[in-house]
Amino acid sequence: MKKKPVVVVNGLVRKDAMAYLAEHVEIRQWTEKTVMPREILKEWLKEADGLWSVRPLTVDGDLIKDAPNLKVIAQAAVGYDNVKIDELTAAGIPYGNTPGVLNETVAELAFTIIATASRRILENVTFVKSGRWAERPSNIKGFDLSRRTLGIIGMGAIGLAISRRARAFGMTVVYHNRHPRQDDAIYRTTYMELDELLATSDVVCIMAPLTDETYHMCDAEFFKKMKSTALFVNVGRGPIVDTEALIEALKNGVIDYAALDVTDPEPLPADHPLLSLDNCLIVPHIGSYTDRTRYDMSILTADNIIAGVHKQPLKCCVNEEVNYEKTKMDMETALAELKAAGVSLSDFED
Ligand code: DGY
Repeated sequence: MKKKPVVVVNGLVRKDAMAYLAEHVEIRQWTEKTVMPREILKEWLKEADGLWSVRPLTVDGDLIKDAPNLKVIAQAAVGYDNVKIDELTAAGIPYGNTPGVLNETVAELAFTIIATASRRILENVTFVKSGRWAERPSNIKGFDLSRRTLGIIGMGAIGLAISRRARAFGMTVVYHNRHPRQDDAIYRTTYMELDELLATSDVVCIMAPLTDETYHMCDAEFFKKMKSTALFVNVGRGPIVDTEALIEALKNGVIDYAALDVTDPEPLPADHPLLSLDNCLIVPHIGSYTDRTRYDMSILTADNIIAGVHKQPLKCCVNEEVNYEKTKMDMETALAELKAAGVSLSDFED
């Protein structure tokens, strides 16, 4: 009987996805609640055909340098800022992510925190729940989204899904990317240079990936260029924002309010100054966190791994240049699988 490929999972993953993966591979999983020590992971990888990466983990050339059988790494996330793609490509390892399946879900969360912040829902709920309905100060007023401008920085598929929701609320949508998109007429969006977007937008929403270019893009100067009445939203990655600068901007009225799904650091310690601000709504990186979407992301990750360990093309591969080709038939695997199924080549002889 052919040995199943070995896949290391360095943390906790939903059980249904593990059960599905286990039908195809042998799983070696770190099931402690603590983060798996990197040296132990490196040791396990010496025998592994695949790695299901669970954050926090830096995936780089060093992690896999003593993993001669490794054929694939995948993670249940669209973002891969913890992964040194160039180093995996140099090692010939395809890396699988989960684009597409989470677009609508992340857009729903983004728009939910925009709407919640715009109507000051949290503060109002707090007054009602604590029996102080009538004491609610008159300055906790919301602002309309209709007839306002939403500026999206990083207009990809999720940005477009947010823009559809914004237009349904009567907003105008502008965006900034490295390059203007070619489909503005279809989506009724307008490209702007960054400074113009910041000066124009009532809501500024960060949807960009974290890269060397976007690290701390939102600094003190950035906030000064925004309207003082504006709402700042981050659904991209925490370190795109200089957290100190955001705190100062919120404290000193440089901007009005912030709504964050991602922060730097994550998780925020209980005594973090962001938590003491009344004009900042924070949720704990739950953009894709619905049962259906996390299921879809996990199954896509499992499919990427199952394909990769058999040297078949990953469904979603970030470094396509080292993805496996469908046409390349691995004869050894095919013969072993026939043998495992109890079929012998002589069965085909006349
Ligand atoms: C992603 O997929 O990158 C989301 O941030 C969830 O981790």
